[in-house]
Amino acid sequence: MFSSRTDWDFRSSPLFSLVLQKRARGEEIIDLTESNPTRCGFRYQPDHLITPSALRNSVSYEPNPKGLLMARQAIAGWYERQQISVDPSRIVLSSGTSEAYSYLLRLLCNIDESIAVPKPGYPLLEYLCRLNDVNCQQYRLDYDGEWHIDVPSLAGILSPKTKAIVLVHPNNPTGSFLKLEERERILTVSEKQSIPLVVDEVFSAFPFEEDASRAGSFAGTQKSLTFTLNGLSKLVGLPQLKLAWIVVSGPDELCTNALQRLEVIADTFLSVGTPVQLSLETLLSDPAATRRQILDRVLNNYKGLREAFPQGSPVSIFGCEGGWNAVLRLPATRTDEEWAQELLQVHGILTHPGLLFDFDLKSCVVVSLLPEPKIFSEGMKGILTAVRH
Ligand SMILES: Cc1ncc(COP(=O)(O)O)c(C=O)c1O
Repeated sequence: MFSSRTDWDFRSSPLFSLVLQKRARGEEIIDLTESNPTRCGFRYQPDHLITPSALRNSVSYEPNPKGLLMARQAIAGWYERQQISVDPSRIVLSSGTSEAYSYLLRLLCNIDESIAVPKPGYPLLEYLCRLNDVNCQQYRLDYDGEWHIDVPSLAGILSPKTKAIVLVHPNNPTGSFLKLEERERILTVSEKQSIPLVVDEVFSAFPFEEDASRAGSFAGTQKSLTFTLNGLSKLVGLPQLKLAWIVVSGPDELCTNALQRLEVIADTFLSVGTPVQLSLETLLSDPAATRRQILDRVLNNYKGLREAFPQGSPVSIFGCEGGWNAVLRLPATRTDEEWAQELLQVHGILTHPGLLFDFDLKSCVVVSLLPEPKIFSEGMKGILTAVRH
């Protein structure tokens, strides 16, 4: 009766079963996988989420497939403040970046064509590909103290069936930004082979430090057809407002063609609510300084992580340049799944095994940098106790 694309394995993983058992017994869990910012003790100002005037003006419904002009102008203004010129007519709104990816897969790919995605990377892309009947081909990121895209590995998987190269800038969970030199090499590959770029910048507003060698936003890219994604879910820590966007840039004729088609896709769903669009200008000016609060938290936790596990410690930290996650390498005496299981079973600490993000190294765990400092430092202490055991 059901499509094979929804034939998932619905059995709980041993780790998740253990979480359920512990919760059922009322045991406390130090959750180092928390990725929902609204559960991490940040101060939000409810009046700034949906403004009173936005509510008043939402009584009439005047849909625009690409999103209300006022909202797109607010996004263009946000880029302008970063010295990037974006024409509001080249912006398309969606309810989330995940939906934006789906629009782009529908725009670019026929059944069984493919997109190139980073490994290690966020598992969402695999699900989105499957739901859209598209294959996910992985290119590698390599680590030499910092993460780099293995450009030959990327070039090696491209074929006439590859319809997009996905860049996650910075990548989740490695926290690695593309460097200027990488950007140039990839733009050359993309231009030569006429393969559009999809650049996910949802964590770009959370860099840990300045770096002159780092590539900026791709939203102003003119060389190749480029779709740059961002949204409120990470930028101001408000996933529940459901607003994200795609900036289309590149050669004029390709942009016009892509926008015409995207407009029909978006018109089929009209998925973004009016109140949030009318509040966007205020949200992007971030009056509650939520982005700053989140950035301070992740910086502080990352610092705590480095103090807890200095050089020579049995736990090493993969260098991370930004974002909301960090990757730890634990002793190779156990696999990542065994470590995650033991950390939870014995020490009550929940982490993600690296397997979830397709790490080749088998003893990595991923921790969120969002939890409140007390929880986070308890978690670090527990991990240290576990590895010294
Ligand atoms: C790299 C990356 N892109 C996109 C998303 C989805 O974001 P949204 O809430 O805008 O759909 C996530 C969610 O965590 C993510 O990690």
